[in-house]
Amino acid sequence: MLHFGLVGCGSIAQQRAQALAASPAARLRAVHDADPARASAFAQQFHVEAAPTLDALLARPDIDAVVVSTPPDSHAPIAIAALNAGKHVLCEKPLARTPDEARHILDAAARAGRTLATGFNFRFYPSVAKARELFQSGAIGPLDHIRASCGYRIDPASGWLHDASITGGGALQDNGIHLIDTVLHFLGDASETHGHATEIHGHTTSSLHHWPGCEENGFLLLRNAQGRVATLQASWTEWAGYHFRVELHGALGLIRFTCFPMLTELITAQGRQRFYHPHANLMEKLKSYRWIVVQSFLREFEEFARLVAGQPSLIATGHDGWRAVHAAAAARGRA
Ligand SMILES: NC(=O)c1ccc[n+]([C@@H]2O[C@H](COP(=O)([O-])OP(=O)(O)OC[C@H]3O[C@@H](n4cnc5c(N)ncnc54)[C@H](O)[C@@H]3O)[C@@H](O)[C@H]2O)c1
Repeated sequence: MLHFGLVGCGSIAQQRAQALAASPAARLRAVHDADPARASAFAQQFHVEAAPTLDALLARPDIDAVVVSTPPDSHAPIAIAALNAGKHVLCEKPLARTPDEARHILDAAARAGRTLATGFNFRFYPSVAKARELFQSGAIGPLDHIRASCGYRIDPASGWLHDASITGGGALQDNGIHLIDTVLHFLGDASETHGHATEIHGHTTSSLHHWPGCEENGFLLLRNAQGRVATLQASWTEWAGYHFRVELHGALGLIRFTCFPMLTELITAQGRQRFYHPHANLMEKLKSYRWIVVQSFLREFEEFARLVAGQPSLIATGHDGWRAVHAAAAARGRA
């Protein structure tokens, strides 16, 4: 059982704390937020203690690991302080604003000999898990290419999300960073010398809001050392509504999956099979998408504990967090 502290008691922290309350692998002990009133209300809600400062949280000997769920501009200083204090870290996405910032966190983890993971919880959504199972069973033969896109229409009133000094970018840094990780997860580039897709080409556009440094659409063309290719697009100007869709094209077939709604399809010469994940779809309707987010966090905490224990784990590592930020930056010409 791992004991957690949580820094940043905002919107996603609600689902993190719900998952920690239900997890057999982890327990929440204390929280901290730059806004003390928010921290104490959150602490009361989840029956834990509020630490008045980050240092006070990190000084607690009863905490093994820290969830960093603040906006991205504070991920690096908080994660590095936690690692230096001997804590393991699970940091929300994007790991940092820039590849260099992310690299500093990785270096701190290596120096401290502590575990660093990135909150790419899409890996644990049922449609993605089913796709992974089908893919690994050889259902579509060897991978040839991946075609992926995600998007929604951003609300101009959405707080810090379109302030590049806080986030490091736009659509590719937001939902797009989950898409980049999902694509790289299946592209399977771990054996490469540089640890990321060998070739990355990208472009960005901004035709509506023109927020400085924030791409409204980001496009990537990736090719790994084995010659497999992936294309992806992340959009903030999706007129048709929210979508997150990935297609794995193999020599013998296609696996297609979407998130919200959760659906996985397998199409081969033998025909088409659909996997609907009815429980997830029902709970999504009854309790909103947040129910599935909590379920994915539960899985993520289990996998985090496995990583800390040195066991094989499906969780995104610090390196996975860095390579996603690196790819997003490459699209902006800043890698
Ligand atoms: N995994 C996912 O699917 C997912 C979904 C949403 C958000 N996120 C990520 O989670 C993080 C938080 O997003 P959110 O929507 O919950 O943000 P939010 O604005 O709702 O909450 C952020 C909280 O952090 C606090 N904070 C800010 N700076 C701080 C600091 N230096 N020290 C302590 N507390 C500080 C704020 O007071 C606030 O309470 C972001 O990195 C975001 O990208 C991930």
